[in-house]
Amino acid sequence: MFSKDTQILLCISSNVSEQENIRNLINGDRNCVFVKSEREALSLLKSRLRPSLILLDLDYPGNDYFALFSRLKSDPVLENTPVIILIPEDSGKEAFFLTIGAADVIRKPLAQEVLNRRIDNVINSQYVNDYLITKMYSYRDSLAEEHKKLVIYTKQIIKSLSSAIDAKDTYTNGHSVRVAEYACEISEAMGYDDKMLEIIYQAGLLHDIGKIGVSDTVLRKPGELNEKEMAAIKQHPIIGHEILSSITEIPLISYGARWHHERYDGKGYPDGLKGDEIPLIPRIICVADAYDAMTSNRSYRRQLSPLEAKEEILRNCGTQFDPEIGKIAASIIEKNISGEISFKNRETTFTSIFSPSNNKALYA
Ligand SMILES: [Fe+2]
Repeated sequence: MFSKDTQILLCISSNVSEQENIRNLINGDRNCVFVKSEREALSLLKSRLRPSLILLDLDYPGNDYFALFSRLKSDPVLENTPVIILIPEDSGKEAFFLTIGAADVIRKPLAQEVLNRRIDNVINSQYVNDYLITKMYSYRDSLAEEHKKLVIYTKQIIKSLSSAIDAKDTYTNGHSVRVAEYACEISEAMGYDDKMLEIIYQAGLLHDIGKIGVSDTVLRKPGELNEKEMAAIKQHPIIGHEILSSITEIPLISYGARWHHERYDGKGYPDGLKGDEIPLIPRIICVADAYDAMTSNRSYRRQLSPLEAKEEILRNCGTQFDPEIGKIAASIIEKNISGEISFKNRETTFTSIFSPSNNKALYA
């Protein structure tokens, strides 16, 4: 199957006449190197001899062949070099050596055709193995590259969707990105890792996606909404959750849309969940959403300063907001006002959530 000119066989046998016997039996078109001992073999292998196959003649006392075999198999460079063990007819160790990783075990006396065919078989299998491993690594690398492109593409789609949401409501320009970033600041201060922060960022970007299903007249109406209009607005978490429920790989993203208008005291909508019944992500997004709404210019009420918004968040801890999250948000806002911290742009910093293994513990 493969050219024998490039094959080097290393034969380890401490008996000169047996070396001669093997030399005569092995077909002449193979390159054979003979050594007498484990020490000589290791010295050659250390000097970068890379045989296609090692023939280990087990018939002689004084050499610890098992130790040599173990050493070969534990060497990262040589572990894949196949070893054929030649054993005395009555050795009884055939199964043992096959179990510990010999490519083949041949009983003596050696027959020329059997020896050469079995050498061929082992070398051919090794070539196929090496070829498949090389191919596998190459596919893995190209898959990783494709996955990277897919992640970028997915993020771009999510960002475009969030821009579409904000474009529906002229009063809230850039709201989704700001909510996503504030929610990440809060989550980071709560000690969550990058994977969680990334999920929260995407959930924040899409929390108001349900507004796509609410009429522009209602969304853009200056001034207070009547009862019917308010009922239409209150549908947006349900519509958003339905839209995002098709993202089955990361269901947490849809939680932000469904429950970001719930209140800690149970008086929110759409489901009237209370306290810890509200999943963590919407509890965080709820505070971030309120902070951005308070500090943005809206037609129906005065824009608050960050300091006033912080006080408002603290006043509503335990009623509108989760008290722990509200206090953490207030402390971040205070640090931002004093210049101690600045809110980060996180658009390009995340890389992990679109990988196959999402942390199930986050679903609490
Ligand atoms: Fe909303």
